[in-house]
Amino acid sequence: MDVKLLQRVKVVDTDDLSTTLLDILQTEGYQRPLFVMDHFLASIPLVQAAQRTLAESNIEYAVFDKVVSDPPAATVMAGVQAFKKHQADSIIAIGGGSSIDVARGINIVRVNGGDILDYAKSDAVIKDCPGLIAVPTTSGTGSEMSNALVVTDVQTEKKMAILADNAVSEYAVLCPDMVLSLPQKMTIATGLDAFSHAAEGYTSNLSSPVTDAICEKVMFLLANYLPRAVKNGQDREARQRVMVAAALAGWMLNNAGTNVGHSMAHVLGSKYHIVHGEAVAYALPGVLSFVSPVLPKKVAEIGQILGLTYRDDESESERASRAVEAYRHFRDDILGLHPFSDYGISTDQLLENASAVANEQFAGNTPRKIDEAVATQLLKEFGRR
Ligand SMILES: NC(=O)c1ccc[n+]([C@@H]2O[C@H](COP(=O)([O-])OP(=O)(O)OC[C@H]3O[C@@H](n4cnc5c(N)ncnc54)[C@H](O)[C@@H]3O)[C@@H](O)[C@H]2O)c1
Ligand SMILES: [Fe+2]
Repeated sequence: MDVKLLQRVKVVDTDDLSTTLLDILQTEGYQRPLFVMDHFLASIPLVQAAQRTLAESNIEYAVFDKVVSDPPAATVMAGVQAFKKHQADSIIAIGGGSSIDVARGINIVRVNGGDILDYAKSDAVIKDCPGLIAVPTTSGTGSEMSNALVVTDVQTEKKMAILADNAVSEYAVLCPDMVLSLPQKMTIATGLDAFSHAAEGYTSNLSSPVTDAICEKVMFLLANYLPRAVKNGQDREARQRVMVAAALAGWMLNNAGTNVGHSMAHVLGSKYHIVHGEAVAYALPGVLSFVSPVLPKKVAEIGQILGLTYRDDESESERASRAVEAYRHFRDDILGLHPFSDYGISTDQLLENASAVANEQFAGNTPRKIDEAVATQLLKEFGRR
């Protein structure tokens, strides 16, 4: 049977992180959580207040705060050591995709043993991994709801995505106060990551009517509230809507996946250190144009969500091509993503990656075949304004 939508994560939304975390731990009987964060998040008052609340209730926590962006596999393994040393029984991951992905990796290895990269093989068996409580502080990856984790294999310079239905979070705690401090540049990048999840999931081979409905809502929320969150980071209503959009997109990813846009981001991101959300946003117009001949209606609908209205006499392909321009306008003019040229990466450098993009694991979800020639075309379009 082909199940189209499954949701195992208990989602809680709250204005009071401390009480909610205590409540979850007491409900589930966890006594010894390990906080998994980066150095910055470990220092913020809301996190420290939550730690005080747990300590006052005799919860013995430890902290692993060595997460870095685009984490290498070794960070996961260092976290496993911290988990064992503390004899932890659960993990509280606080941060963006990097922290939550590392936490998921720690949870997989502490239950299943071995090295996290062992689980990048498609036939790896991953047993049920309970006890992960995810508190997102960016609104982008949806890692709090998704079954994915992305780690870099530093030997090959490759970003590896591991998909594990048995390692989703036990809880996702959505607290808008956690994202109020997210800088504007990261708000743009992470919001565009969520938009790409929805747009790529909408145009993925694995999409279905139920995942499509989620994608449409995610894009609607982002089209309407991400500009407000970018303009004023303290706009709590906008932050909350964008946070929900990112989480729903993470859920959808488990079922519909992403496509070649994320392949480009994984290949180029690990090699040239392009911020993940920016990389997928530079990739998306090329991807939408490429899938338009087979999915003109869906691409045109993305344009409608972004505010376009169509004339009756416009063909579907004309509508789709205006939709791609509407996305560029949203990305560059309304949100203000900085140009790809800022990275100083030449077209020749980009084109060296055509084979890697064509062979990346998500490329096969694209509804037209991606060979090296197609990947070359997509790389030529990457970052074009
Ligand atoms: N698991 C998935 O499904 C999935 C999906 C897409 C991407 N990813 C991966 O997730 C990673 C990217 O995650 P990300 O985009 O959330 O960024 P991130 O976790 O790497 O964080 C980026 C930076 O933002 C800072 N930051 C985070 N929250 C903040 C806040 N509230 N205030 C101020 N600063 C804050 C962090 O300290 C860090 O310096 C990449 O490795 C990417 O490949 C995972
Ligand atoms: Fe992503």
